[in-house]
Amino acid sequence: MIVSPSSRRLKIIVGIAAVGLIATYVHVRPRWNQATFDYARDYYQSVSSYFGSPVYNNTLYTEGNEGMVSRYYNSSSPCASFPNTDGVLLVMKTGATEAFDRVPTHLLTTLSCLPDFLIFSDMEQQIGPYHIYDALAEFEESAKAHNADFDLYRDQKECPVSQKSCVDAKRDGQKAWNLDKYKFLPMMEQTWRLRPGRDWYIFAEADTYVFWANVIQWLKKESRLNPREKLYLGSRSFIGGTPFAHGGSGYIISGTLLKHLIEYHPGVVSQYNVKGANECCGDLMLAQALEEYENVKIRQTWPMINGEKPSTLPYGPGHWCEPILTMHHMNAEEISTVWQFEQTRKTDRTLMIKDLYEGLIKPKMQVSRQNWDNLSDDVCYLNPDPQAQQRADGHSKERQKKEDEMNDVEKEAWKSWENCARVCETEDVPDEGEWEREGIFGRENESPGTAIDTEIAEDTSPSDAAARKAWKNSMNEKKRNRTCFQYRWHEEVCCTAKSFKLGAPKTEPDNSDLKAKWVSGWHLKGINDWIDAMGECTKPTWKTPD
Ligand SMILES: *[C@@H]1O[C@H](CO)[C@@H](O)[C@H](O)[C@H]1NC(C)=O
Ligand SMILES: *[C@@H]1O[C@H](CO)[C@@H](O)[C@H](O)[C@H]1NC(C)=O
Ligand SMILES: *[C@@H]1O[C@H](CO)[C@@H](O)[C@H](O)[C@H]1NC(C)=O
Ligand SMILES: *[C@@H]1O[C@H](CO)[C@@H](O)[C@H](O)[C@H]1NC(C)=O
Repeated sequence: MIVSPSSRRLKIIVGIAAVGLIATYVHVRPRWNQATFDYARDYYQSVSSYFGSPVYNNTLYTEGNEGMVSRYYNSSSPCASFPNTDGVLLVMKTGATEAFDRVPTHLLTTLSCLPDFLIFSDMEQQIGPYHIYDALAEFEESAKAHNADFDLYRDQKECPVSQKSCVDAKRDGQKAWNLDKYKFLPMMEQTWRLRPGRDWYIFAEADTYVFWANVIQWLKKESRLNPREKLYLGSRSFIGGTPFAHGGSGYIISGTLLKHLIEYHPGVVSQYNVKGANECCGDLMLAQALEEYENVKIRQTWPMINGEKPSTLPYGPGHWCEPILTMHHMNAEEISTVWQFEQTRKTDRTLMIKDLYEGLIKPKMQVSRQNWDNLSDDVCYLNPDPQAQQRADGHSKERQKKEDEMNDVEKEAWKSWENCARVCETEDVPDEGEWEREGIFGRENESPGTAIDTEIAEDTSPSDAAARKAWKNSMNEKKRNRTCFQYRWHEEVCCTAKSFKLGAPKTEPDNSDLKAKWVSGWHLKGINDWIDAMGECTKPTWKTPD
């Protein structure tokens, strides 16, 4: 822009005046009374933000995670340690019924550090400076004309006010789902046309969170994968025996594979557009197309590419030292929370699943919660009475432990939540203190000498030290072998879990019957024993896709 000298001079004068005013205000501020001060403090904070150093209390910082996250959140340079994403493109898929609820939080967090990305939907829209592409814009008229799945597509376009005002959440949620499957293949075609030639394409949904530091470290270094090969990576699901990468968890396609699918098979998209009416899901259709035309199958990348979120992830064996690449079912608040966690971690070490537990979940763990569920259903204990068995749901019936394999505590577990809580205690292991007490106690009886003498004797007796070490190793193995971490009790059904997870509230039943209550509890000693026995994860266990 060409600026005349006089207008430049004017700008300088205005600038000096502004600085003068701020200086005066800072000087005068302490003399204002309290009410004015509160107002002024807000004003001052916005001014200080303007100068680029907004520092707040870190709302995640709490008792139990002080070692993990810092007390303050310095939000002034969010992208300072963001990785270099050259050659990697994010493609996000959403729908007009949810776009404004879900997308803005991504834009405020991870997407604010990405130099480029694409967002597809079932309607062309604009969110601030960001364009949302209509994946279905080129869908053949003939294929959608008599297809009721496209009713929502047509209705959305005719909505004369905001989409939210035209939407009925219940009815349109199902319709949005029915429409969703048609977006996948056209989205592949448009992605290649708009942004050809990238090494990697990461496809995510608006409730997927991508851990960029890990994704880039893995793709560019740890995985040793070559984007010139035809690769399709994700969390494997099956429908009708066909394996596919679950869409909501996010999946990764190499540039070479996308190029082959779109450039070498011009008919594939329109063929699958017609096929869509008879298939359940778009992520399945994509897998079918990749198999049919390129003979490429999904390579399993779970649990790094993950369908859970921090509060539902089953922490424990197989979910601990593994780095995390994606999570699913994340609402706007959860996305912001995980971003804040990434931003305020005290280390830039690879983020492993255990870090999510220690930073976000551990502070929320307590002995039990009422009206709480979705935790435990690995092993179940039911009232053996035939009538009670008939009433029980199939899921927990299938998971019953056999009568002759049960110990006495397990046999009684269904009777009350207190009984249920005792099941995990039967796996408890004495800790080292107990060996100490027993050992010292035995020797003190023989010679009531000083504790120091006893310790020296212990340390210098090789057989004793070896026995102690062997005992400790076997106790550690037992701790790691634990299979009961938590329980849920409801309607005389007790179930326990082989992992630990937080779960979610469960609405209180209308009747005040005690049996109808949902009670969930965590065996904190067992959980902490297991964590201790696992030790530090000195090396993250990156998963090799297979
Ligand atoms: C920050 O936290 C402290 C206590 O932890 C509290 O006293 C203070 O008011 C908080 N500051 C803001 C700006 O919320
Ligand atoms: C916040 O971060 C910025 C940039 O990294 C830095 O210049 C500033 O000093 C930090 N502020 C505080 C209070 O630590
Ligand atoms: C519990 O899990 C089931 C299936 O895993 C899911 O459909 C349901 O929404 C979950 N409920 C809660 C309260 O999280
Ligand atoms: C732990 O589990 C392994 C494998 O299931 C088993 O071989 C081993 O004996 C168990 N160790 C202990 C101390 O229970």
